[in-house]
Formats: sequence, structure tokens, C-alpha cells
Amino acid sequence: MSTARGQFSSKVGFVMAATGSAVGLGNIWGFPTQTASNGGAAFVVVYFLLALVLAYPALMAELILGRHGRSNMATALAGLSSRPLGKKLGAGVGFYGVMVASLILSFYTVVAGWMLAFFADAVATLFGLSESGGWLTTQSRGRNLFFGAIFASLTMLIIARGVEQGIEKWSTRLMPLLAGLLLCLILYVITQPGALEGLRKYLLPDMRQASDPKLIISALGQVFFSLSLGVGSMFIYGSYLSREESLPRMGAVVTLVDVGIAFTAGLLIMPAIYVAQNYGVQIYAQDGTLIAGPDLIFQVLPTLFDSMGLIGRLVGLVFFALMSIAAVTSSISMLEVPVSTAVEKTGTTRARATLLIGSGIFALTSLIIFNFDTLFGLVIDVSTKYSEPLLAVALCIYVGWVLRRDQLLQEVRQGHADIESSVFWKIWPLYVRFFCPLLILVIFFHGVLG
Ligand code: TRP
Repeated sequence: MSTARGQFSSKVGFVMAATGSAVGLGNIWGFPTQTASNGGAAFVVVYFLLALVLAYPALMAELILGRHGRSNMATALAGLSSRPLGKKLGAGVGFYGVMVASLILSFYTVVAGWMLAFFADAVATLFGLSESGGWLTTQSRGRNLFFGAIFASLTMLIIARGVEQGIEKWSTRLMPLLAGLLLCLILYVITQPGALEGLRKYLLPDMRQASDPKLIISALGQVFFSLSLGVGSMFIYGSYLSREESLPRMGAVVTLVDVGIAFTAGLLIMPAIYVAQNYGVQIYAQDGTLIAGPDLIFQVLPTLFDSMGLIGRLVGLVFFALMSIAAVTSSISMLEVPVSTAVEKTGTTRARATLLIGSGIFALTSLIIFNFDTLFGLVIDVSTKYSEPLLAVALCIYVGWVLRRDQLLQEVRQGHADIESSVFWKIWPLYVRFFCPLLILVIFFHGVLG
């Protein structure tokens, strides 16, 4: 290894970075649109439940294994076994994580590029330089490549600077800004005509829908993606956390902030949908399904902003700035996975690893852009729907069955001296051995086979 390992400088630094990873397009784009197309409040309730009973325990598995191993996932999992086969298996799971993290980053860059393009359009419009329906807001390979490249470069610039100067510094700057912008937008949208109907849909559950298996599977995928689970993002961030902090508390903060921001984003998007309807934008088809689906914010919201005049342009600018910020604090946690693995395995410099791997992943992004109809959905499904839950199961098994109980206790006790008398210690270790992996597998196979 060429230099000493990076570490977050403080608890706040870790919380900003880890919530920065968790809070992303998944929260502000994915969660509200899934809520809107899965019947509103019932989805929200199921999502909260799953965050508590599955995502938080799985996040703890990742953070604990990461801090215990003090290295990337491949090295750490291999190190847990003394037999050659166990070592191979551990390294294999780690590399699978590296590949999935890279795949996720490759499609995430496409979507983040759209956000940047719409942001650029809002700036241009504000200065009277762009007419609606121009190059910036129309899907084209050229536009997507251009803005995808800008986004990939931003991600690489931050990662090249390392843990403290890159990841921590930028997350600490951008996360408060994100929270502030989000609140301003909500205050504005909620005073618009039609907003209350959206709020009602969002907050009053029709619990008959909550047992729909499709709803449960969507919520599970959504919550795993939102907490950045499975691929090693949280694993590597855990490995940069000081042994003076309490892991169960840090994990709880990250889960609460992530769920809280998703919920808050819903307070923006759901009312905005109905405000848009009020302005004459059609959002629901005859049968009550949402027309735009995942494209929602690129169709419904810009139309809404346009119809609101000058203020609308400002609101649009703030909104797409918010999305771009959320995206970059997440994308850095994906790129950190392959980069840290390469640096720790080969001893190459961080700058070199970042440039090579970042460019490689952007090549994948370009491939997706050129074969959008075949690849985009496929890459999303393979990485998030199929791989993330299975990797999460593997990590639960590692923490529950491979890590010895005394090792586990020793790790969580650091930074949390009285852990043995806590509720966490009474429930979680058994829970993560049996219940968690089983439940994830049941929901998974139900989803894949059903
Ligand atoms: N959690 C982020 C979001 O909600 C995305 C993300 C970052 C992610 N790192 C990840 C998703 C690792 C899966 C795995 O947008």
C-alpha cells in the first residue's frame, strides 16, 4: 500500500459522508415516484417497516464488517477465513460487490447527467438563452454523453482527492445545502393550489394495498438501494470510521436521515404532481395509473415549472441543483468501492486508480447510452433487483456465521462500552443470523418467481 489508510476526521464527517451516500436519486426520484405508482401512503408505511426490520440490520452488518476488517470488502471477507476455499469465497463476494457497484454507477451516471442537463437548461432559461424543448431538455445521445461525462468527471475529481479531502469535505459541504434547498422547495410548492390533495394521497394510507406482494417487493428493492446496501459502499465507509464511535448509533442516524429525507422528498413531489395537474398537466391515465412513471420528474415537473413563469424557472433551477447534488454525494460512494479495492490490492496510487477505473465505468455508461432501450433497464435489474439483495444476504451470513461472537462483541463494544446491556445486542446478533437472511430470500424469490 502506498500511503496510510484514510479515515473520516470526525463523527460528523462520517455521518455526512454516509448519509450523502444513502440520500440520492433513490430518495428524491425513486421513492416518491414508487409511492405515487404504488398507491401512495400504504407504500410509505411498508417502506418504513422494511427499513426498520431489514435495512437497518443489514446496514449494521456492513458497517461492522467494514470497521472490523479495516479494508475493502474483498480483502476483509477473505481475511475472515483461514482456509483457502473460504478465502476464495470471501474474495469472490467482494469482487462481485465491486462489479455491482460499478454497474450501478454506470446507469446512475446516465440519470445524473439528465439532472445536470436540466439544471443547465434552467440556468440558460433564466438568462433568456434557451427556449423550452431545446437541445438541453430533449433526449439525445450527444446530450447524454456530454452531461454524463461532466458528471463522471466530477465524481472522479472528488474521489481522486481521497477520504478526508474528497469524500468527507464535499459531503459536509453539500448535504446541508441539499437539506436547505429541499425545505425551501417544499415551503413553496405546498402553498400552491392542488398541493393539499397530493398531501392527502401521500399521508392517508389505504392499508388494503399494503399486503400486495408487488408493493412489498418494490419497497424492499427501494429501501436496499436507498441505503446503498450490498455492494460495499457502506462497508468501505465503515472501514474509515474511528473506533471511538458507536456503530449501532451511527447506523441508526444514517437510517433515520435516509428515511427522513425520502419521506420529506415525498412531501415535495406528491404535492407537486397534483399542483401540475391543477395547471392542466395530465398525470394519471383513465385507469388511475401514473402516466409518466419513472420519467415523471422530467415530464411533469418541467411542464409545471414552465407554466409558473419566472418563479417557476427559479424553482426548477433549485430543484435540478438539488438532484445533481444528491447524485454526486452518492456516486462518489460507488466509485470508492472499486478504487479502494484497486489501491489496497495492487498498491497503485489513488489518482491513477480513479482515472483508470472511472474511465472504464464511463465506457460502460456510453455503452448504455448507445443501446439505451436494451441495456438501461437490464443493468438496473441485474444490479439492484437481483444482485443487491443476494449480496446483503451474504453479508448477513458473514457477520452472523463467519465472524466469531467474541470478535463481533469486541468490534461493537469499541465506541459503545455498555453495548452488552443494550437492546441492540440482545436482539440483533440472533436476528441477523436467522431472520434477516431468510426474510430477504423469501421476499426475493417471491419477487423473482412471481
Ligand atoms: N443510495 C443512493 C440513492 O439512494 C445510491 C447509492 C449509492 C447506492 N451507493 C450505492 C445504491 C450502493 C446501491 C449500492 O440514490
